[in-house]
Amino acid sequence: MTKRSITETEVRGKRALVRVDFNVPLRDGEVADDTRIRATLPTIEDLLHRGAAVVLATHLGRPKGKPDPAYSVAPIARRLSELLGASVATVPVVVGPEAEQAAAALDPGEVLLIENTRFEPGEESNDPALAGALARLGDLFVNDAFGAAHRAHASTVGVAERLPSYAGPLLQREVTTLSRLMDNPERPFVAILGGAKVSDKLGVLDHLLGKVDALLLGGGMANTMLLAQEHEIGSSLAEPDRVNDARRLVDRAAERGVLLLAPTDVVTAESLESTVTKVVSVADVSADQSIFDIGPDTIARYCQEIFTAGTVFWNGPMGVFELPAFENGTLAIARCVADANAFTVVGGGDSLAAIEAAGVGERIDHIATGGGASLEYLEGRTLPGIAALPDA
Ligand code: 3PG
Repeated sequence: MTKRSITETEVRGKRALVRVDFNVPLRDGEVADDTRIRATLPTIEDLLHRGAAVVLATHLGRPKGKPDPAYSVAPIARRLSELLGASVATVPVVVGPEAEQAAAALDPGEVLLIENTRFEPGEESNDPALAGALARLGDLFVNDAFGAAHRAHASTVGVAERLPSYAGPLLQREVTTLSRLMDNPERPFVAILGGAKVSDKLGVLDHLLGKVDALLLGGGMANTMLLAQEHEIGSSLAEPDRVNDARRLVDRAAERGVLLLAPTDVVTAESLESTVTKVVSVADVSADQSIFDIGPDTIARYCQEIFTAGTVFWNGPMGVFELPAFENGTLAIARCVADANAFTVVGGGDSLAAIEAAGVGERIDHIATGGGASLEYLEGRTLPGIAALPDA
């Protein structure tokens, strides 16, 4: 699916309203991780160089439809201004006369960032009045917010229906990469899925089983798989009510000839605070222990699959990698993915943090900026923000 692209459109003298996903973590009132802002810089710079004025719109956090200073975009404007090396105008509102005047006052080559779109109650309900008010801020609309493409909001869908609308280059690149994974992967296609809960990723697991050659599981969700294999998992995080779903996945993998691997050895401790850790076979987890990471045999087995892959997709950590005692599995997998002689794609906030911690970001082919959006895409679902854009 190719969407009408802004890169092939004349924008000189126009005001481009650009939806970006600058939903970034903040710390002490400043941007703590600017990956998403940097990923959008080429889009903004291209529009400015081609003679457009740029009005940027983003959500930040979940302020629930009313202004909340803790979620103001002011820190983002400061960081963006540093990265662009140019001033970024702001307004304390999302829409209305003040925003319209500020947008109208822009000269070509200038940037305005309006306030957090989720300060407006109509954003999440895709209220037509808000969509109309947003449309008054630009001559055309560019959606470059892949990370928010799974939300049918006024600033992603409503406004796209009211202005000439285009896909931005970041959004296009994300979609092209993910569609290459799903439709035309170099084989073998190996997916590694971790994270806390099976229930969060059942849809993705199900859909991926129809596409991949091997599926490697880690994190809390692998514990549910171990339960399904009738292993003792002590007081590990798991979802006993999802054991039947896990069994169904095993059956489905067998039917389709997909290699489905769960850990064979694990790192356990009495609690996350405990300094005494053990490496044990999954057959030997004692009732007073919890599983917090995958063990060395599992790492070796998973890396063996990763090294023979033509395509690798990774989402979700293998253990509690925020704690040094349980970081080894996740960091080792990050390094193996980076070393793989394959097309490699990593998505999801935690896996990105692991890639950073392992210092291998440069050696991953594609780092997806949207966690939730990429998972919904990989479930085979239509993302409303993309569907709202006209085809090329
Ligand atoms: C994200 O961070 O995944 C996107 O910005 C979407 O945010 P949301 O889950 O609050 O809609």
